[in-house]
Amino acid sequence: MQATAQAQPNIALVKYWGKRDLDRNLPAVSSLSVTLDSLWTRMSVSFDGREADSLEVNGADSPDMLARVSRCLDYVAGEDRPRARVTSESNFPIGAGLASSASAFAALVVAADAAAGTGHDRLTLARLAGAISGSAARSLYGGIVELIAGADEIDVHRLMDADEWPLEVIVAVTEEGPKPVGSGDAMIRGAETSPFYPGWIEQQDADMQTAREAVIARGFAALAGVAEHNCLKMHSVMWSSRPPIVYWNKATLACMETVRALQAEGHSVFFTIDAGPQVKAVCLPKSAGAVESALAQTEGVIHTMQSRLGAGARLIGA
Ligand code: PMV
Repeated sequence: MQATAQAQPNIALVKYWGKRDLDRNLPAVSSLSVTLDSLWTRMSVSFDGREADSLEVNGADSPDMLARVSRCLDYVAGEDRPRARVTSESNFPIGAGLASSASAFAALVVAADAAAGTGHDRLTLARLAGAISGSAARSLYGGIVELIAGADEIDVHRLMDADEWPLEVIVAVTEEGPKPVGSGDAMIRGAETSPFYPGWIEQQDADMQTAREAVIARGFAALAGVAEHNCLKMHSVMWSSRPPIVYWNKATLACMETVRALQAEGHSVFFTIDAGPQVKAVCLPKSAGAVESALAQTEGVIHTMQSRLGAGARLIGA
């Protein structure tokens, strides 16, 4: 009745932004991501039959996230399951636009499934994680991952193994506090108020196709072009929402300029930015050292983290 699982965050290169079905948390668009290696979240679940579920994050009680964790346990093990003690540990800041909910819920469904003995298959676990946090569905898989938004269900699969195309990701952290608006609320606001939202939805399948072809051909320049374009379109929806949502700060823009300068020097690198002010630079291994040091020296950057691509969520102990 006890299990521990680990998952790593993933970074979308073609973004999920917008919901088709609010109750089931179904995404309005497909997305494509890379799963990281060196940043991780470990979740332990023990269905010990206590009076109410409890959640500890990095050693401290965490009532804020408890409702979502309980709902996730219900999805995996049924509402009549025994109550559980859940503990979580991460080696990177949570709730700051670093996809901590993706690694947390991906690890949680795997641990809960093992602890409850439910034996769900991987796609089912991805769908259950995605029902809580859309991006979490992608962290069930390693390497380069595609999520296809169907009308009723999502389909998620690995497009390429981590070692088939050894990309590197450097994260420039520019602010450590929690984000002002959560991504779920921001997506709803965008759908209701941004004049750009219909265009965003309409073009997504074409961006997915371009990105998929670039990955299969290992065409870095083609992937860079579509990923930056897709990221800036998503942020255009946020900026044009009412009231507007601007997650960027001065250092976010400075990092984008750093990436432009590196590209002008001939480095294979591009940027992407999620619902927060951090900049993620994706590059080929030969450019990783130069990208890391240029971002670390960019004004306003607090620290950087570097990672290769890694594996999907998995059990690490019982
Ligand atoms: O999974 P959520 O609800 O935290 O939304 C994630 C949204 C983005 O990170 C901005 C984009 C993405 O595809 O991961």
